[in-house]
Amino acid sequence: MAKIKPITFDYSASLIPENGISQTQLDALKPKLEAAREEVLKVDAAQYASGDVPAEKAPLDHAYMELPERILDEYQSDRENSELGRILKTAARLRDSVDKVVVLGIGGSYMGARALMESCCHPYYNELSREERGSRPRIYFEGNNVDNDWSQSLLQFLELDSKGDGPEGNWAIVVISKSGGTLETAASFRQFKAALEKKVGADRLPEFIVPVTGESGKLASLSDAIGIKDRYLVPDGVGGRFSILSAVGLLPAAIMGIDVVKLLEAAAAMNTHFHSAPVGENVVLDYVGVNHLLEVEQNVLTRVMSVWSKSLESVGLWYDQLLAESLGKNERGALPLTCVNSRDLHSRAQQHQEGARDKVMNNVIVDSWRHDALPIGKSEHDQDQLNELADKTLPDVMSAAIKGTNLAYAEDKRPTTNINLPAVDEAAVGQLFQMLMLATVVEGRLIGINPYGQPGVEGYKKYMNKLLREA
Ligand code: PA5
Repeated sequence: MAKIKPITFDYSASLIPENGISQTQLDALKPKLEAAREEVLKVDAAQYASGDVPAEKAPLDHAYMELPERILDEYQSDRENSELGRILKTAARLRDSVDKVVVLGIGGSYMGARALMESCCHPYYNELSREERGSRPRIYFEGNNVDNDWSQSLLQFLELDSKGDGPEGNWAIVVISKSGGTLETAASFRQFKAALEKKVGADRLPEFIVPVTGESGKLASLSDAIGIKDRYLVPDGVGGRFSILSAVGLLPAAIMGIDVVKLLEAAAAMNTHFHSAPVGENVVLDYVGVNHLLEVEQNVLTRVMSVWSKSLESVGLWYDQLLAESLGKNERGALPLTCVNSRDLHSRAQQHQEGARDKVMNNVIVDSWRHDALPIGKSEHDQDQLNELADKTLPDVMSAAIKGTNLAYAEDKRPTTNINLPAVDEAAVGQLFQMLMLATVVEGRLIGINPYGQPGVEGYKKYMNKLLREA
């Protein structure tokens, strides 16, 4: 395994007395953080394995944690028939047979795949020619809403843009739902399946649909009835928003040509780090400690994830769901908010600089870019007075924006932290996803809130279904 360059977490700008929290407080929290880690690593693991789960800890969806190691080990010992081997085979089959894949899913069955696409693929992936995409299919997301015009538009586009029977004229569906019964995804599946059947015929339909779902449930039964052989399981003990490193995220990622092995290796490296690094050097425990102290000591209830790359917006949105659904319970839980900078300096920064003192800005900073640095450049028309900055590049401007923003916040005693990613790629985001999942669970254990399950989501479903079925 190639060495993974670690992501880092610098909290020094938050841990100053002016912000109301100090190193002494973090030191005092150390035994509790270590106890929470112990609970996650030993107690949760043992209770999950034995099935002996205390009522207040149910559900205990602990299995997400070892997914990276388990999937990689199985792949090492059986490249052909392991789950990852099969995922790669399905991706190759779709690459050879279709030009578009519609990924249907919502919540945890959607946000991870989108975050992977935006962070690890070319920003204009769908606009590239088939050759430039390495023959990989374009990806479209649906089933994540009930927006009539977006569904209709995609269906119309698929009909108009998919002529002929060769790969360039074909499209497929990957339908993802752990429960198999989520209305948004189910309704969308019915609609897109009907359109696909019209194109390829009932006999060939199974070739063009790949479900990712639980062992049983409505989608599993429907898949059986259609005769679909190529399908994947959302493993037991893995909650929706913790499923990005299962087939839920890995299958779409493999279809897009993302290096899924590297992604898993990076997540496994984060597990190793989490197990052994002490408080003060442990990105998971330090992130939890600082954000938790700010919340309990200073009433900092809004956690801004301030991402300094457009490629990370969906990673931020994935985290919004993770934090909100995991810890937003019992009238507690910080409010997550994703900002993309420098864009949102022109929309949200005013409030972050001078609004209520209830926010921490957790920056996610990219240390190196994929492309050569683009200079502003000299021009004979200097009315914009940029010639004096002609040699400055976009990374120079970004760097100045990050440092300048942090300085401005520090001047007004607004807490910030920095998560640094060596780059935006599989190695970095694999670590980041695992770090944030671990941090969410550790924080849950620290504050006595079960991070798994989302009982509150049932509220709207009950009324929506009643209204629909009564009308
Ligand atoms: O985190 C969760 O479990 C939820 O957000 C689910 O992912 C979401 O409700 C979709 O559920 P399903 O995959 O069962 O369709």
